[in-house]
Amino acid sequence: MRSARREATASTPAPSGRIRLSPAGASGRNPMLSALAAQVIGVVFAGLLAAVLIPQLSRQPLALAALQGACAVLASWRLGEPAWRLPIHAIFMPSAVLVHGMDLPVWLWPAGLVLLLLVFWRTDRSQVPLFLSNRKCGDAVLELLPATPCRVLDLGCGDGALLRQLVRARPDCRFVGIEHAPLPWCWAWLSARGKGNLEIRLGDFWNHSLEGYALVYAFLSPAAMPRLAIKADNEMTTGARLVSNSFPFPDRKPEAVVDVVDRGHTRLHVYAPLKTQWQ
Ligand SMILES: C[S@@+](CC[C@H](N)C(=O)[O-])C[C@H]1O[C@@H](n2cnc3c(N)ncnc32)[C@H](O)[C@@H]1O
Repeated sequence: MRSARREATASTPAPSGRIRLSPAGASGRNPMLSALAAQVIGVVFAGLLAAVLIPQLSRQPLALAALQGACAVLASWRLGEPAWRLPIHAIFMPSAVLVHGMDLPVWLWPAGLVLLLLVFWRTDRSQVPLFLSNRKCGDAVLELLPATPCRVLDLGCGDGALLRQLVRARPDCRFVGIEHAPLPWCWAWLSARGKGNLEIRLGDFWNHSLEGYALVYAFLSPAAMPRLAIKADNEMTTGARLVSNSFPFPDRKPEAVVDVVDRGHTRLHVYAPLKTQWQ
């Protein structure tokens, strides 16, 4: 079904003492502000272009919005935003024009905003959106669990489906999931009712210690990984493992890589915290 590749362990020496954690993706730039800047620059440039070169565009809102999208994409690229934002910039204004033409009730806009907030919470700050591990990843994680009873933590457990799969297979272990987005947390919490060995907490996993867990599972984003590497080194128990779905720690070789045979060719990166490796 799947193959596990062993790779060399980390070549970086163990940190001496505790290291201060900095916020995820701390590049010094606010992602909301740079997205807003790209959109505003798009509006200014499209407005100028339309006014000076193609005045007939001002009577075609959709074409004007498409031009704004193209300018916003260029601005986003020049501002060094991640590539996944480019298509969003391209379609943002054209979509707004199209939806505006549908004459929808006014309350739908704030309702949509609230719904998005409840599902995705502060993705702008965490830079970790909601997407879920599939069952084959769950099967692979099960094989990484120690044979003896242990504690397992899912950092940002989403709807909790992965944990419920693990709970069913390993009733001898205790599972904890932490989620900060209200709607996924609510779903995970409700679905965990009656399962004595599954605990779903509402909160920020950066404030939760990784000590005492035999396996910590993370399916986050590249932005969160540098901070998570430091947290794992500082807090994880000797002999424990951190399994990161898709996103490796920067500048560190995993102890093992598990290639999951699924449509997305998912890779699980398995790390032992540095203090474990160098003891
Ligand atoms: C990619 S999803 C993974 C969901 C689940 N672990 C899985 O594998 O199916 C990441 C989740 O982490 C949550 N999250 C991101 N940052 C968080 C934080 N600081 N504290 C708690 N949850 C967080 C997001 O809301 C999202 O639900």
